[in-house]
Amino acid sequence: MSSEQWAVLMEENGKVHVVEMTSGSTKIKGLGVFDPEKALGEVAVGETVTIGQKELRRLPARLPELSKGMLRRAQTISAKDAGFFIARLGIGSGDAVLEAGIGSAGLSLHIARALGGSGIHTTVEPRREHAEVGLENLRRAKSLWQEFPKHHHVEGTIEQSVEAVKALHPTYDAIILDLPDHPPAISAVVECLSKGGRLACYCPVTSQLEAAWEACETAGLHVEWAGELMEREWGRASRGGMRPVNGPFGHTAFLLVAQKL
Ligand SMILES: C[S@@+](CC[C@H](N)C(=O)[O-])C[C@H]1O[C@@H](n2cnc3c(N)ncnc32)[C@H](O)[C@@H]1O
Repeated sequence: MSSEQWAVLMEENGKVHVVEMTSGSTKIKGLGVFDPEKALGEVAVGETVTIGQKELRRLPARLPELSKGMLRRAQTISAKDAGFFIARLGIGSGDAVLEAGIGSAGLSLHIARALGGSGIHTTVEPRREHAEVGLENLRRAKSLWQEFPKHHHVEGTIEQSVEAVKALHPTYDAIILDLPDHPPAISAVVECLSKGGRLACYCPVTSQLEAAWEACETAGLHVEWAGELMEREWGRASRGGMRPVNGPFGHTAFLLVAQKL
């Protein structure tokens, strides 16, 4: 019997499933009905197993696998932009990070991984149906990773939740806002930002970016960087050589980073 609570399985096409190791027949979305403990209990990391028509390889539960296999509801922030936020806000062990809204917790998984065991991570979300998905993704990560930050979740809008998040931790080293209307959120949270700490906004369209920039200046923050990151994947051409792969050259969002001086 495996002592792990979850198994991470990858299909040949790269699709990842995170399966809870319950015993008894269970319907697992995308894989059909089977008994996870019986089918996977003896399968070691690196080995393959056939479930239904699919050959699956068991993998360790690292951040890329948990992100690929996460439950989704709201649009998520992916590694391209999450990695930039972690680096430009300097998020690391011992920090306190405030995040609104949690959505599906795509960004939260990256923050939790960077904070490790000695950080504080406070998430805020008004929509319970979004938070349920995001909190489930964090629950999986917490049970699979050796270290996980002290996580608090507050239900409500960030504007309504300032006293609650300050009660959990008086100031935050980093604040990240991924929500539709940045200006009221920025003016509400600026008092929670530590001196020298940074606030970041994720803005799918330019009008949001402009409004966030103005709101940061009005709140007394120094806008350090605004722009977007372009990611261009390359692959091997069928007749030899390397070239950019066919496919969309997509936009995710405009990002803004501002500092409290
Ligand atoms: C795009 S989703 C966030 C996705 C998340 N960053 C991820 O990577 O999975 C935006 C979330 O902000 C929430 N939201 C909207 N207005 C808000 C507010 N005023 N305060 C906090 N959260 C808010 C929405 O309910 C939604 O779940």
